[in-house]
Amino acid sequence: MMIFRQLNPTDIHFDVRCGDWDLNEARRISRRMQAELVSPCSPPRILRTALGKPYAEGNHGPRWSCSATTGASGIAWSTGQQTGLDLEHDTGEMPTDTLLRDALTSSERIQWSLRPTSGLFIEIWARKEAALKCIGTGLHFPPNRLEVGMPAERWHPVQADRDPETSCWVRSVRIGHNVACAIACRSPAPLRRTPVGDRIQPEPEGTSVGRTTSPPMSG
Ligand SMILES: CC(C)(COP(=O)(O)OP(=O)(O)OC[C@H]1O[C@@H](n2cnc3c(N)ncnc32)[C@H](O)[C@@H]1OP(=O)(O)O)[C@@H](O)C(=O)NCCC(=O)NCCS
Repeated sequence: MMIFRQLNPTDIHFDVRCGDWDLNEARRISRRMQAELVSPCSPPRILRTALGKPYAEGNHGPRWSCSATTGASGIAWSTGQQTGLDLEHDTGEMPTDTLLRDALTSSERIQWSLRPTSGLFIEIWARKEAALKCIGTGLHFPPNRLEVGMPAERWHPVQADRDPETSCWVRSVRIGHNVACAIACRSPAPLRRTPVGDRIQPEPEGTSVGRTTSPPMSG
């Protein structure tokens, strides 16, 4: 049984696996990761908010966010705060003008037009979805009202209409394989790559609360 008490409650953990998977296979793997993470909760039933964000019945255990795309599956979680994870496969297809208008703020459109590639669009889009999954709205909140900044591997504050409900932080994570990855959280904290069900060990006798399992990443 996995024990979460020993984890620093604000830290954010994530696990991303890449493989030669189509979207269905990637989705199956992300659901397995989710089930493995939630399994120590009692009871381990996974429910959803009205807008679709999954959570464990009774709010037991960590808060998590999972994502799947062609070639990659992943999960981000924290025992103390909400997180959002998004993975997006870059097909090389350029975004249409309509998509750019629907997806990006005016300032993001200007910045994208300085280096107009499908890869940059996908990186920005992954940041949007990670933030929208962290705040729990998903695409029910218009992405072109959420300023997420250009891809960077350090926490960046997200803004939308000065509404505290939409306040969060986002950062990109480089994973390769033509996949953009971004993680969002409510409050910036050390980010740790922690394989699900692997490095979270059973709590040994006398272990103090707050012990962490992996070194923080920079930023
Ligand atoms: C959440 C959303 C942004 C993710 O889109 P995606 O890139 O296609 O898929 P991802 O693999 O990255 O994420 C899917 C996971 O997001 C999670 N999710 C769904 N709604 C969520 C929400 N409101 N907040 C946080 N997470 C959510 C679920 O865990 C889902 O995985 P699961 O179904 O296997 O449990 C998008 O599906 C969405 O907003 N859906 C709700 C609104 C909607 O249905 N709009 C129709 C299209 S406009």
